[in-house]
Amino acid sequence: MLQCSLFVLTLLCISVKDITGSWEEWWTYDGISGPGFWGLINPQWSMCNKGRRQSPVNVEPEKLLFDPWLRDIQFDKHKVSGILQNTGQSLVFRVDKDSKHQVNISGGPLSYRYQFEEIYFHYGLEDHRGSEHQIDHHTFPGEIQLYGFNKELYHNMSEAQHKSQGVVGISLMVQIGEPINKDLRLITSAFNNVRFRGSSFPIKHLPLSSLLPDTQQYLTYEGSTTHPGCWETAVWIIFNKPIYISKQEMYAIRRLMQGSQISPKAPLGNNARPVQPLHHRTVRTNINFNRQGVPVSSNCPDMYRNMHYTATQWPREHSMRYRSAEDMSMLQPN
Ligand SMILES: *[C@@H]1O[C@H](CO)[C@@H](O)[C@H](O)[C@H]1NC(C)=O
Ligand SMILES: *[C@@H]1O[C@H](CO)[C@@H](O)[C@H](O)[C@H]1NC(C)=O
Repeated sequence: MLQCSLFVLTLLCISVKDITGSWEEWWTYDGISGPGFWGLINPQWSMCNKGRRQSPVNVEPEKLLFDPWLRDIQFDKHKVSGILQNTGQSLVFRVDKDSKHQVNISGGPLSYRYQFEEIYFHYGLEDHRGSEHQIDHHTFPGEIQLYGFNKELYHNMSEAQHKSQGVVGISLMVQIGEPINKDLRLITSAFNNVRFRGSSFPIKHLPLSSLLPDTQQYLTYEGSTTHPGCWETAVWIIFNKPIYISKQEMYAIRRLMQGSQISPKAPLGNNARPVQPLHHRTVRTNINFNRQGVPVSSNCPDMYRNMHYTATQWPREHSMRYRSAEDMSMLQPN
């Protein structure tokens, strides 16, 4: 480890004049600029190595805490326009700054009103990996993360991301199968236009709220952005149902490359940060046993003490023979 970090430092000294002002581009998901080194390659990213409230995490169903005060999530229905970009590390959609109608996110566990800003796409090159968050150690083929910033306290994402309560991350697990999310097509049909680093493509009138799965059940915890600088300013919300994309769409996203057309380098996929320890943080949920039809005697105090959650067993094969995949929740009361 020490040797490695010295190596990184030497390397930085040699090349620092080439990369001044472009830290943003100088990190990866493997090797000596991978997640284990993010905190070493830039002093402003030290939380990536030192932080103890980091994301993503593995959600342990039996440790979930039911919180009756969690509200429904409010997500504006307005459509947004923006730019889909291959950054060389991820596929990112950023909303146009001058949009008249910004999309507000509030309610749920949030104490403030947040403004939608960007979407990150994490996915695997094979079906058994891809998502950053895990449910009972199950990894999904992909994870779509909608980030917003605290609009009541801060001016923009760059200011908010390293300040208290700056960011909300909404996590949609991606499963291959049916019914596919038709509104996601607006983005997936553009994959071929962003194959190489630096390429971008405009997306118009994206109905963000229709990307969300059809459920108000979610899990929530406090963590960090999953990309550098790993600032511990994020409230995470993970919906309890995946969204579905087709094999063809998955094939198209797996063709994206980390490099330019001239030097394509490796595929962009497998861009997931490994799960981070919870360190005694609580993951709360609004999944309510009562409403699930589990009878609770009216004399009993409503403490849900002996209630546990179990994770759904997902098939290894994604041929998806379910008649109604829409009903597949990731977690159920035990
Ligand atoms: C978002 O919230 C602000 C403040 O309440 C409001 O002015 C704005 O119209 C909202 N945006 C939408 C699209 O409703
Ligand atoms: C974000 O807001 C801060 C504070 O108002 C400002 O100094 C900065 O230039 C803004 N950054 C961007 C990228 O707009």
